[in-house]
Amino acid sequence: MTTLCLELRRVYGAYPTGVAVVAGLAGGRPAGIAASSFVPVSLDPPLVSVCVAHTSTTWPLLRDSPRIGISVLGAHQEHVGRRLGARTGDRFAGVAWRSTADGSVLIEGASAWYDCTVEQQVRSGDHDIVVFRVHDLDAAADVPPLVFHAGAFRRLG
Ligand SMILES: Cc1cc2nc3c(=O)[nH]c(=O)nc-3n(C[C@H](O)[C@H](O)[C@H](O)COP(=O)(O)O)c2cc1C
Repeated sequence: MTTLCLELRRVYGAYPTGVAVVAGLAGGRPAGIAASSFVPVSLDPPLVSVCVAHTSTTWPLLRDSPRIGISVLGAHQEHVGRRLGARTGDRFAGVAWRSTADGSVLIEGASAWYDCTVEQQVRSGDHDIVVFRVHDLDAAADVPPLVFHAGAFRRLG
């Protein structure tokens, strides 16, 4: 990685975000990644987005799925963020999840969840901006979110 890339990572990381899990079923098994790039985009139509690196080996397994789940992790789910963000190992080991009838994979106990289809993918540098259409969603007001800032998992307050 170049010096500029390292600097970009450091400065991009100064912007605090939540941690989302983008997941679906691939060959009947859950597959997914952690993503700090989740952003709500539009109310009408209901659209959200995630930026996915071209190096992702999981996204090609998911992108043609009929439905994809996006779960906003709660402050108590740092272990889920670490596991889903790891490059190796069984990402869903010890993670409580459920799937919808259409194949979205959602993390149990999350702060919020979205049941989505892929609307559009835009190549942008070394990532794709993936725009999702939201078909169903909910938020748990009593579950505070997990925060990612400066390369570390944090809690609000
Ligand atoms: C906190 C956190 C946030 C992440 N955010 C993103 C992201 O927004 N986009 C992305 O492509 N990868 C992101 N990753 C990396 C992926 O979770 C995953 O490690 C990567 O896609 C490599 O795995 P894969 O080859 O199975 O796709 C993040 C990882 C962590 C730990």
